[in-house]
Amino acid sequence: MDARLQQAMNEQVREEFFSAYLYLAMATDMALRGLSGFAAWLRIQAREEVEHAMKFVNFLTDRGVPVAFQEIPAPRPDWDSPLTAFRKAHEHERYISERIHDLVRLAREVGDLAAENFLQWFVEEQVEEEALTGEVVARLELAGDHGPALLMLDREMASRKD
Ligand SMILES: [Fe+2]
Ligand SMILES: [Fe+2]
Repeated sequence: MDARLQQAMNEQVREEFFSAYLYLAMATDMALRGLSGFAAWLRIQAREEVEHAMKFVNFLTDRGVPVAFQEIPAPRPDWDSPLTAFRKAHEHERYISERIHDLVRLAREVGDLAAENFLQWFVEEQVEEEALTGEVVARLELAGDHGPALLMLDREMASRKD
């Protein structure tokens, strides 16, 4: 595999694990605030991010590329409110989408069709991730400081299955 693509994919392994870390930090913070529905939703999200990381790890391994595991930065532990957390989550997903698009462009540039094809799944996944987090932000903005609305939203968030 092209050296630049190898490096970029290795970096994406770190980014996906960092995403898991970020959502897990948010989940624990929400749990401490009594918002167990938001916490459950974010724990599921964290698990999905680990699966994303594993997809990259397995792809690199299948291609005979050594995985250069990098340090995962610590996420912010404290999130003031679900709105602050989910605004960050949405912003983070947009950032990840940009990275995925950069990876696709690089795979194209170096003519790596297998990598380009592999990345298509992530292109679609990111559309969904941006939509999901964006919807939660919109609903939290509607709820505002209204306690009962927030608790209702928390109950809805608890119904996420995967
Ligand atoms: Fe991801
Ligand atoms: Fe994500």
